[in-house]
Amino acid sequence: MELRDHYERTIDYLRISITDRCNLRCIYCMPPQGVRFFEHKEILTYEEIVRVVRLAAALGVRKIRITGGEPLVRKNIVYLIESLRTIKPIEDICLTTNGILLENYAKDLASAGLSRVNISLDSFKPDRYRQMTRGGDITKVMKGIQAAEDAGLMPLKINMVPIRFLNDDEIEDFARLTLQIPYHVRFIEFMPMGPQGLWNSERYIASDSLKAVVERIGPLVPVRLRRTGPARYFRFNGARGVIGFISALTHHFCGDCNRLRITSDGKLRPCLFSETEIDLKPALRNYSSDKEIQRLLRLSIEVKPVGHNIQQRTDLLSLKTMSRIGG
Ligand code: GTP
Ligand code: 5AD
Ligand code: SF4
Repeated sequence: MELRDHYERTIDYLRISITDRCNLRCIYCMPPQGVRFFEHKEILTYEEIVRVVRLAAALGVRKIRITGGEPLVRKNIVYLIESLRTIKPIEDICLTTNGILLENYAKDLASAGLSRVNISLDSFKPDRYRQMTRGGDITKVMKGIQAAEDAGLMPLKINMVPIRFLNDDEIEDFARLTLQIPYHVRFIEFMPMGPQGLWNSERYIASDSLKAVVERIGPLVPVRLRRTGPARYFRFNGARGVIGFISALTHHFCGDCNRLRITSDGKLRPCLFSETEIDLKPALRNYSSDKEIQRLLRLSIEVKPVGHNIQQRTDLLSLKTMSRIGG
C-alpha cells in the first residue's frame, strides 16, 4: 500500500507533535509574553496517537518523527515510543528535541526503539544560548548530546538557525565540528513564522550565503544520502561528519516532499506553510471506524498543496508558531 498525492509524491513520513509546551522560549519561536498552551484534554492521548499511526502505517507510512514544542516535557514518552515500535511496518522512529532533558532520557528512549534524534542548538556560547532561548542552560544540552551518542542514537543531527546580528558569527564553528565528529550539522534558513516583528529580510540569511561562509574553511563536496528530506548535504574532504542546508525559502524541496503532520491537538496538516488542516479529534473521540480515520488521512493527502509560495505571501507572520506545528 502506498499513499500518493496528486503530484505523484509518495507520502511515507508522518511528523507528530505530541505537545505544544516547551521548557525553552526561543526568541524566533515564541513571543516574549509566551503563548496560550493547550489544555491536556485538547491534545491527543498516546492511545489516539498510536491508533492513528497504526492506521497510517497500513496506508504506507514508514517513518515517524516525534516533535513538540519540546516532546520530552510530556510524561511517559518512553511508553509512547515502545508502543509505536510494535507497529510492524514502521521502519524509523525519530525525535526532534532541544536536548535539555535528553541526558535523562537517551538510554531509555534507545532501548524503547527510538532510532535517532535531531537536536536544536543555535549557539555554543553559554550566555548567547541563554539569551536566544530565554533561559536555557547549554551545559544540559551538551550532556544530552553526549548521552544520545553514547546510547547509539546516530546519526545525530544538530539543527542551527543562523540569524544575522545574532549568531551568524558562529556559522564556521558549527561547520568545523564536522571535521572531527560524525554528526550532521544542518543550517536552517530562518523562516518567517513565529513572533511578529522578529523575522525580516535583513536578519534572514539565504543558504547560498551560508554555504559561502562555510566554504571559507575549505571546499565542500556534495554528498548523496539516502532519504535526504529537506536538507542538501556536503562534506569537507576527510571530515567525519556532514553539513546540510535546509533552504525552506530559496531551494524548497516541495517537489520531493514526502510528509504529513499532526499537530498536538490532532489536526492533520499536509504542509508546514499551509493553514489547511483536517481535524482528527472529533472522529477519534466519537467512536469512528478505522475506515473513517483512514478516509481523513487520505483526504489530507488529497489537499496537500503542490508547494508553498512563502516568498510571495504577506500574511505569514500570523501563522501558528512552530511550537504548535512541530517544525
Ligand atoms: P530528518 O529526517 O533527519 O531529515 O529530519 P527533518 O529535517 O525532516 O526534521 P527536523 O525536525 O530536524 O527539521 C529540521 C528543519 O526542517 C525544521 O526547521 C523544520 O521546520 C524544517 N522542515 C521539516 N519539514 C519541513 C517541510 O516539510 N517543509 C519545510 N519548508 N521545512 C521543513
Ligand atoms: N525558522 C527556522 N527554523 C525554525 N525552528 C523553529 N522556528 C524556526 C524558524 N522560524 C526550528 C527549530 C528546530 C526545528 C524543529 O524548527 O530550531 O530545530
Ligand atoms: Fe521550544 Fe523548539 Fe520553540 Fe525553542 S524552537 S521554544 S526549543 S519549541
